[in-house]
Amino acid sequence: MWKKILGLGASKREKDLVSLYDRVPKEKRPRHIAIIMDGNGRWAEGKGLIRTAGHRAGVGTLRDILHVCVDLGIEVLTVYAFSTENWKRPRPEVDFLMSLFSEYLEKEIQEMEDNHVRLRFLGREDGMSEALLGKMHAAEARLAGNDGLQFNIAANYGGQDEILRAVRTLAARARAGEVAPEDIDETMLAGALDTAGQPPVDLVIRTSGDLRLSNFLLWQAAYAEFWFTETNWPDFTPEEFVGALVDFAQRKRRFGGLNPSDGK
Ligand code: IPE
Ligand code: IPE
Ligand code: MG
Repeated sequence: MWKKILGLGASKREKDLVSLYDRVPKEKRPRHIAIIMDGNGRWAEGKGLIRTAGHRAGVGTLRDILHVCVDLGIEVLTVYAFSTENWKRPRPEVDFLMSLFSEYLEKEIQEMEDNHVRLRFLGREDGMSEALLGKMHAAEARLAGNDGLQFNIAANYGGQDEILRAVRTLAARARAGEVAPEDIDETMLAGALDTAGQPPVDLVIRTSGDLRLSNFLLWQAAYAEFWFTETNWPDFTPEEFVGALVDFAQRKRRFGGLNPSDGK
């Protein structure tokens, strides 16, 4: 459990939160949760602040949600931090986000290490500075031997771009005679994606009211459940997150088939 959340001095809120965990039975917890952390700008604008203040506030939410995922024993958490389309934003906002990633890695890595978190970045490397890439690789390497939560940060990530890169990899292998085109199947393609070796997404959460995927995990979310909230990311709480998991636990997933009680 994340720094023994229930240790001496645990606040009432923490205790209440941990008691909420019991409402999500272990066997009904999603293995892979993917979050579109949206609404930082709207949060800031609503408070008369500059947009970047929203991004900074959002880091605190991410920290809390990561704690809860560790506590609940979730296998994989993927968060959408920066899309391949987000380069269209004004340069100062992009620069701010890049420096925030760097600061985030510096500040949070020790706690991730203490809690056995493994880290992987999903997405393209081009466009990111050498300094930032160096920190990203160093953080991945430092946490690579851990066996706890797999934490994926999608940064400079687009689902279409990821599939295209995987297809190119497989096409090159086919051209080299290593694989026959007719042997390329779903498993092989999944293994060429940035999430290779990880389970598919069970639950996609998007904050801030927009009902779209915005190019996130297009392949991996093929049979995911969706959960949306109007809450802007900086205001999203562990309690609301656990509420989403309670809701997920009640969903009936059919994967194209029938539930045991159906079709009789
Ligand atoms: C999400 O918040 C964070 C990133 C896309 C980096 P936004 O910045 O998209 O916030 P809104 O959607 O404009 O409110
Ligand atoms: C998706 O949010 C990307 C991230 C949260 C990083 P956007 O704010 O970029 O998505 P759109 O433009 O509203 O679809
Ligand atoms: Mg947005």
